[in-house]
Amino acid sequence: MSHPNDPGVDDPSESPAAGTDEGAERHPKYGARIRSFVVRPGRMGTGQVRALAELGPAFILPFKPAPMDYAAVFGRQAPVVLEIGFGMGAATAQIAQTLPDHDFIGCEVHEPGVGALLKLIGEREIPNIRIFQHDAVEVLDSMIPPGSLAGVHIYFPDPWHKKRHHKRRLVQPPFIAKLVKHLAPGGYLHLATDWEPYAQQMLEVLSADPDLENTATRPDGYADKPDYRPQTKFEHRGLKLGHGVWDLVFRRRG
Ligand SMILES: C[S@@+](CC[C@H](N)C(=O)[O-])C[C@H]1O[C@@H](n2cnc3c(N)ncnc32)[C@H](O)[C@@H]1O
Repeated sequence: MSHPNDPGVDDPSESPAAGTDEGAERHPKYGARIRSFVVRPGRMGTGQVRALAELGPAFILPFKPAPMDYAAVFGRQAPVVLEIGFGMGAATAQIAQTLPDHDFIGCEVHEPGVGALLKLIGEREIPNIRIFQHDAVEVLDSMIPPGSLAGVHIYFPDPWHKKRHHKRRLVQPPFIAKLVKHLAPGGYLHLATDWEPYAQQMLEVLSADPDLENTATRPDGYADKPDYRPQTKFEHRGLKLGHGVWDLVFRRRG
């Protein structure tokens, strides 16, 4: 019998956004929302600890259940891209430097990753990234205004290989429908994975959403990797294991 404290079940009372997460996967017995991650302790390097202390207050946004004002946060009007699960953030930093006219909001729950991205922000003086160290699903539910995003990046999301864990996968119809509502008309959704069954699931889910259109011209429906996306850490790991890589780029219909 599963237990409410099993890592597969989260206490709904912990969720400040409880009640706003319509369409979320819920545990059949306990009603708690099923999350796409498990927070595991990780060792922090001294540079990451220092970056958290010195840059965290300026670049980490506090989670609060109220829509955010991008112009106030970034000090300018620019297209805003949300990244879900940036890991150690190397790709995020590089993309933000490649696209200086865009602003980037990165969500990551793994603290060493947050420290690592802050370190890069400090070293390279990257002005156009802000971070939520918080569940991206709650950030989306509570803080991202509908129709406001120019794009969403989800690179190498946890594939949750075991069948009994598939419910934890981020890319499922209700969550994608919710993401699409937060895209501006013409806004894009860029996903990548090295796990072929998950790539197939992504293609199926995105293709079935009536508000999305596939930008890919390849007959298999997958996109060529856009130039702005560098190789990510998890992609590198997948390639070393002999995995393939699949990118998907869909747009919200205008
Ligand atoms: C497999 S890693 C990939 C990291 C990175 N994108 C890369 O390609 O190297 C997936 C990351 O997503 C994060 N994650 C999963 N679900 C999340 C959520 N709901 N909100 C924020 N981060 C999440 C995990 O903590 C993990 O670091």
